Amino acid sequence: MSTITLNDGSPVPWLAFGTGTALYGKDASDFVKVAIENGITHLDGAQMYNNEETLAAGIKASGKPRSELYITTKLKILEPGQTATEALRVSLRKLDVDYVDLFLIHSPSPANKEGKLKALWEEMEEIHSQGLAKSIGVSNFRVEDLNVILEGAKVIPAVNQLHPYVWKAAQPIYELCKERGIVIASYGGQTPIVRAVGGPLDAVLPAIRERLEKTRGEPVTSGQVLGKWILQKGAILVTTTSKASRIKEFLDTKNVPDLTEEEVHVIEEAGEKLHKRIYMRHVFE
Ligand SMILES: NC(=O)c1ccc[n+]([C@@H]2O[C@H](COP(=O)([O-])OP(=O)(O)OC[C@H]3O[C@@H](n4cnc5c(N)ncnc54)[C@H](OP(=O)(O)O)[C@@H]3O)[C@@H](O)[C@H]2O)c1
Repeated sequence: MSTITLNDGSPVPWLAFGTGTALYGKDASDFVKVAIENGITHLDGAQMYNNEETLAAGIKASGKPRSELYITTKLKILEPGQTATEALRVSLRKLDVDYVDLFLIHSPSPANKEGKLKALWEEMEEIHSQGLAKSIGVSNFRVEDLNVILEGAKVIPAVNQLHPYVWKAAQPIYELCKERGIVIASYGGQTPIVRAVGGPLDAVLPAIRERLEKTRGEPVTSGQVLGKWILQKGAILVTTTSKASRIKEFLDTKNVPDLTEEEVHVIEEAGEKLHKRIYMRHVFE
């Protein structure tokens, strides 16, 4: 389970290190270097994070060859008259690469409100056919946004990057993605223990964590329980950290025994009780 295969046949490392949120607009180079040195090969950047040059610097400092890394970036809101290809070429220069492995439309908004989403996806398809991005996808797309681009699409999005602690609202998106072979990538997956402590997951995580620890005979953290749930939904786990120890903890998630069906159910039942969206609220509310 070191990779997840996308609908275009490309393998994606299951764990991505993000340069947004805690590193948004900041120099990410040291953190990226440490992440790579500790076993991360998938790096999740974005034009909006305004630090793609520092992602490149971290990669360079790590000494890891480009061919052994998986680099994602995301399209920001275009300047008037700018094309998505032009915007990606700026990223490629900043990242000091010839191609990205995955290029996502960061948000359906404002293109959806302006009736430009279909045309934007056609540009993404052109980028894909030119080989500037090995895979193309979306982020924060709801069912109605996906339906606009899926109708007549030459390339089905490979990925939809989403936030899970809005599980009830996210389920129709999850189901549509599953039906169309679109892999979910999950950001903000640690929210129940980091940004929404005191929520309904508090009541169920400890018992599951303890059961897993007993079964495994080695420590298991609540973060790993959440990571395990994400992976068992078939999603890519996108996270970030300032600590090498946490990278090791995240990488160790795949050694944790599987959650039972009952445990998955208990987590989802609790998760449904709270709609806790931290990022991208303007798209969803
Ligand atoms: N597509 C989008 O719209 C979108 C939106 C948001 C994020 N993202 C991507 O996803 C990446 C990760 O997002 P995220 O930060 O929301 O991920 P997350 O996995 O929910 O949280 C990671 C953060 O939580 C902290 N953390 C983890 N475990 C902890 C614990 N047990 N106790 C206290 N703090 C803990 C980490 O800090 P430490 O330094 O202490 O480990 C880190 O800052 C971003 O960098 C970005 O690349 C994408």
